[in-house]
Order: sequence, then structure tokens, then C-alpha cells
Amino acid sequence: MSPLSGMNHASGDPAAPLRPGLHVAIIMDGNGRWATARGMPRALGHREGVAALRRTIEGAAALGVHRLTVFGFSTENWRRPKREVMELMGLLRAYFQSDLKRLERRGVKVRVLGRRTGLESDVLQMIEAAETQTAANDSFHLQVAFNYGGRADIVDAARAFAEAVERGEAKARDLNEALFEAHLSTAPIPAPDLIIRTSGEQRLSNFLLWECAYAELIFQDVYWPDYGPEHLRAAIDDYRSRQRRYGGLVHEDILAAS
Ligand code: IPE
Ligand code: IPE
Ligand code: MG
Repeated sequence: MSPLSGMNHASGDPAAPLRPGLHVAIIMDGNGRWATARGMPRALGHREGVAALRRTIEGAAALGVHRLTVFGFSTENWRRPKREVMELMGLLRAYFQSDLKRLERRGVKVRVLGRRTGLESDVLQMIEAAETQTAANDSFHLQVAFNYGGRADIVDAARAFAEAVERGEAKARDLNEALFEAHLSTAPIPAPDLIIRTSGEQRLSNFLLWECAYAELIFQDVYWPDYGPEHLRAAIDDYRSRQRRYGGLVHEDILAAS
């Protein structure tokens, strides 16, 4: 995937139409702080976070988003107390139980990114069922990064390529960015155009480390449970006013340089 292929999404002209295929990724952060600020257990923040996800997906397509990747559980989130980890696993189960039919009917293709190791067998079955049942859909792509870490994904891709070399199916000298990228769990979906993080934190916390190379970063000072289409609209408006250059020059600069 050439980094230039998403170029016209954000031309620096806020009035220019968005090109189809906009890919937005969201680090849904701040559930715990949202709950604590209300004197409630963190688990309630996570539960409200699911409602925010539902609202955001509903609003996304209308805003011109065709691909949405959300960070639901990181490879580092296993460090949290066992009870909170179990609650987060339970929420994934509950989400697929309650929403899969609706997603399927609305033409949403669901994929779950990340390592499949360490997950309970019923969670694995639900993930597989969600992917299989929505495999033929194409109108909107929802990717849920769950047990996902950018570094782990890069290591897994490197291992998969090395194993192909060991089997004699690939040659080390043929490795290039496109071939490497094809081994990431995000393939073949193109890299996100913008990555949003909620809650005011300004870091990636191991999200899409390869894919973020030329993503526009937007940090919004709102806890995830309060998020909705109006916040996504604000982020997309900000994105539209940006000019993506991919290390090159934009047309006016080329004219000025010649
Ligand atoms: C995001 O909210 C959800 C997950 C990381 C699973 P947090 O649980 O990180 O909430 P804060 O950041 O502690 O407020
Ligand atoms: C990133 O948030 C992971 C998810 C949103 C799923 P964290 O809350 O785990 O990140 P840190 O610990 O603040 O960096
Ligand atoms: Mg957090």
C-alpha cells in the first residue's frame, strides 16, 4: 500500500469532500477515570464505554468513515487486576452477543486484531463467529484490536516471515515494506488516516506502531464513555484542515520550488 494512496483524504481544504475509504482508529481511553470521577467502580466506566462505541459506530458511516479500528484491550492490559481483566473479557462477550446481529444486518464486516493466545475458548469462538458471519459484508469495516500490541504484532509478522523463509517459501532478500506489512494482523486494510485518542493522554500506548507512520494524530480531552458522533465529527473536521505530505511536497510548494 503506497503511503500516497490516502493523500486526498485531507488536502488542507476543510471544504473539500472526503475521499471514500477513510480509515479512523480510536484509542478508547478514560473509562476508569470517568467512573472514578462519579464515585463508581471502574467496571461501570467500561460498560458505558460499550455504549459510546455503539454510538460512535452508528455515527461513523454518516460522517464518511468506511473503516473504524478501535483499541479494546492491549497486550499490556493483562497487567491490570484479574477482576478488571475478567470484566473486560466479559464485555467483549456481551458486545458480540448483543450487537453482532445488528452489525451483520447493517453490512458491517467485523475483524478482531491481535493475538489469539491467552483468550478463553468461548471468547475465541465468539471472535471467530463474528468474523465468519460478517465475512461477506463490505459496506463498513469494524476492526476491534483486542489482546493487541503494536510491538507484538511486528514480532509476530517477523516470525511468520522467518518461518516462510525456513520452509523455503520466501527469500530474505525479497523482504520489503509491502511484503512485511502483508504479515501484520492489520493486513490487507490500509493504514489509518487518523488516530484519535480520548481522555487527554497524548501517547499511542503500543497501538498500530507500524501503521501510524503517516497517520494524523488527534487527542481529544473527553473520557471515552462520553464520546459520540459529535466528537468524531470534530476530529474529522480537524483532520480535513490538515495537509498530508508524506515527506514530499504539495502542489503549491512544487510550483514555488520550480
Ligand atoms: C480504556 O479505559 C479501556 C481499556 C484500556 C481497556 P481505561 O480503563 O484505560 O481508563 P483509564 O485510562 O484508567 O481512565
Ligand atoms: C490503551 O490504554 C489501551 C486501550 C485503550 C485498550 P491504556 O489505558 O492501557 O494506556 P496507558 O496505560 O495509559 O498508557
Ligand atoms: Mg487508560
